[in-house]
This record gives sequence, C-alpha cells and structure tokens, in this order.
Amino acid sequence: MIELRGVSKKYPSRDVITDINLRVEEGEFVSILGYSGAGKTTLISIAAGLREADSGEVLIDGKHIQGFADEASIVFQNYSLLPWFSALENVRLAVDSRFHDWPKEKQKKQAAKYLELVGLGNAFDKTPKQLSGGMRQRVSIARAFATEPKILFLDEPFGALDALTRANLQTELARMCASAERPVTTLMITNNVEEAILLSDRIVPLSKAPRATLGPSVTVGLAKPRTTQALAHDPEFIRIQAEIVEFLTGIKQKTEQPVHEVNA
Ligand SMILES: Nc1ncnc2c1ncn2[C@@H]1O[C@H](COP(=O)(O)OP(=O)(O)OP(=O)(O)O)[C@@H](O)[C@H]1O
Ligand SMILES: [Mg+2]
Repeated sequence: MIELRGVSKKYPSRDVITDINLRVEEGEFVSILGYSGAGKTTLISIAAGLREADSGEVLIDGKHIQGFADEASIVFQNYSLLPWFSALENVRLAVDSRFHDWPKEKQKKQAAKYLELVGLGNAFDKTPKQLSGGMRQRVSIARAFATEPKILFLDEPFGALDALTRANLQTELARMCASAERPVTTLMITNNVEEAILLSDRIVPLSKAPRATLGPSVTVGLAKPRTTQALAHDPEFIRIQAEIVEFLTGIKQKTEQPVHEVNA
C-alpha cells in the first residue's frame, strides 16, 4: 500500500535521510522508531506526498505519488487545528474536503460521530484554545478517522502529551484502528519504544542523523489488543525492546531496565 524505494533527502545545510526502503502492506500498522532530529518528519512528509524527495520513488497503492494521496489522512506532532473554528467545524471541514458532495448536515453528523468516538461528545462547540492538549489531539484523531482514510500517517501523534494522557490516547487509537469500517494502513513515527510495540505489527528503526537510514524491521507477534500493563512483564516485549534499542544505540541491553524513549 505504501512503498518507498531508495528515498534520500538533503537540506542545504545537511544530509537528512539516505536510501530509505520500506513497504507497508494493506492493513498493516508499521512504526518507524528514531531519534529526535533524525529526519522522521521529513520521511513521513515524503511518504505522504507533502514534500519531495531528492531521489528515489514513493508509490501508494502501486502508483507514483502526486501530492497528498486522496485516501490518506495525517495527524501531526502539534495538533494543527484551525484555531478560530470549533472542534465540530474542524472535523467537518476535513469531512467536506473528502466528501464534498455530502450535504452539510450529513458532514456534521459524520464529524459528531467521530468526536463522540474519541470521547468529545460534549466539546463540539469548543475552540482549540478552550481544549487541553490531550483533547486537541483527540480532535485531530477524530478528524483523521472521520474522512474514512485507507491510509493513516501519524507523526509522533502523542509526542506533546504527558505520559498518562498519552497512554489513554494510545489505547483509543488502537481501538479506532481495530474498529474502522475498512482496513486502515498505518505508518506511525515515534521515539517511544513502548508505544511502538503497543500499537504496531512491525517496527523499523531509523538510525541517527545525518544520513539516517532504516534498520532491519522487527515483527511484533504479540496478540492484540495489547495493554501497557500486560506488556511490561511479557518476555516477548522485553526481547523486541532489546533488539530495537540495540540497533539504535549499538549497545546490547540488559533487559531488566526498560528503555522508554530514544533521545539524541
Ligand atoms: N525545511 C527544512 N529546511 C532545512 N532544514 C530542515 C527542514 N526541515 C527539517 N530540517 C532539518 O532536517 C533535520 C531533520 O528534521 P525532521 O523534522 O525531519 O526531524 P525529526 O526526526 O522529525 O525531528 P523531531 O524529533 O524534532 O520531530 C533537522 O536537523 C532539521 O533542522
Ligand atoms: Mg518530527
């Protein structure tokens, strides 16, 4: 569904990502796990058709990408809601961009349904300023799902949230992905090992900048839905965590000490 072949990108001041090769199958949830500043946003922006690579190819559903894919949605690091519109209107506008021929009332109903699904049934009229960070990110997730995307791009969707809110939203996201009306292919960027294992079918580590590139992917064979509590003591969780951290740091882990985040 998503394929990157030999993708590289430089900015004038530095090489960022080099020779990125990745395939995400239909319905698969793949996470790219990497350091701050490694080029993660650059990579997902190229995969989503929002930025151009210097070399290499991006294919969505077997076709070369031309701008942002029609049937995709993206959730950014910092909410990116329209500040002067209500939560409902923020979601409805996204619905309108996908289902332009729907009457406004039907678009509103769709927006309301997804806001309710993320627990914001009583915040329809609130503007982003009146919402907490966690609530704003809930609106972003509702907005992404309300367009019924085939592909979901998530760029550190919970990066700006405190640990407890983050845990709640991770569970919510897993539930939304599992209950979507059709399979959603998801590419998520994160710097949080636990989050990657909690949500993904496969995790691909991204090495440090400059010239960051992908390492060997690790399949997460744990049954879904997963919970943070159950994972903490699961030997498979500890093994996967050790394998990824070893690639990213070059250091073999003593697995009694969980590592949560990779920071440069
Ligand atoms: N438009 C741009 N022009 C020039 N340099 C850029 C541009 N966008 C990003 N960079 C640089 O490229 C590098 C990678 O940036 P990018 O945002 O892709 O990293 P990231 O892994 O998403 O970082 P973070 O963890 O902070 O979100 C950084 O050094 C950044 O300063
Ligand atoms: Mg980023």
